[in-house]
Amino acid sequence: MLSKDRADFYACIDDLLNTPQVEQMKTIRHHPGVSCYAHCLGVSYGAYRLARRWRGDYRTAARAGLLHDLYLYDPRSLRSCRQCFVHPAAAARNAEAPCGGLTPKERNSILAHMWPLSRRAPRCREAAAVCVADKLCSMAELLQLAGHLLGKVPGLLGQNVVKWG
Ligand SMILES: [Fe+2]
Ligand SMILES: [Fe+2]
Repeated sequence: MLSKDRADFYACIDDLLNTPQVEQMKTIRHHPGVSCYAHCLGVSYGAYRLARRWRGDYRTAARAGLLHDLYLYDPRSLRSCRQCFVHPAAAARNAEAPCGGLTPKERNSILAHMWPLSRRAPRCREAAAVCVADKLCSMAELLQLAGHLLGKVPGLLGQNVVKWG
């Protein structure tokens, strides 16, 4: 059985989870070994928790977190520097249909999630929550990858190899 916190979280995004657009993220690789769907679900939950803590609109934060990387193309088809700047706009465009239109806070949360790399900055607590949750999840995913790679070369670091997860 889900805890009350998890149940409250899923109630915020329930209508989005089974939409074809969100389902499609399961087939798109985001970071190595992590699908776009898994990344966005993690960011959604992180943003939900941060928005609750900051007394923001946690439903908006959870929904924008789930949709913030809804770009729906293979990111390897673009140079990484270009992907960094174009994918928030693609995600905002694709998020219109499953949401039936975006609120200004949802739009800002999606478009500004790459700040400070992109010039568009978060203008509300919910957007700040998505931006911070995205950084934390991305870092955790990349550290896990680094841990896997280090684990494959134990001779390199000997006794000091850190085991992740
Ligand atoms: Fe992103
Ligand atoms: Fe992201």
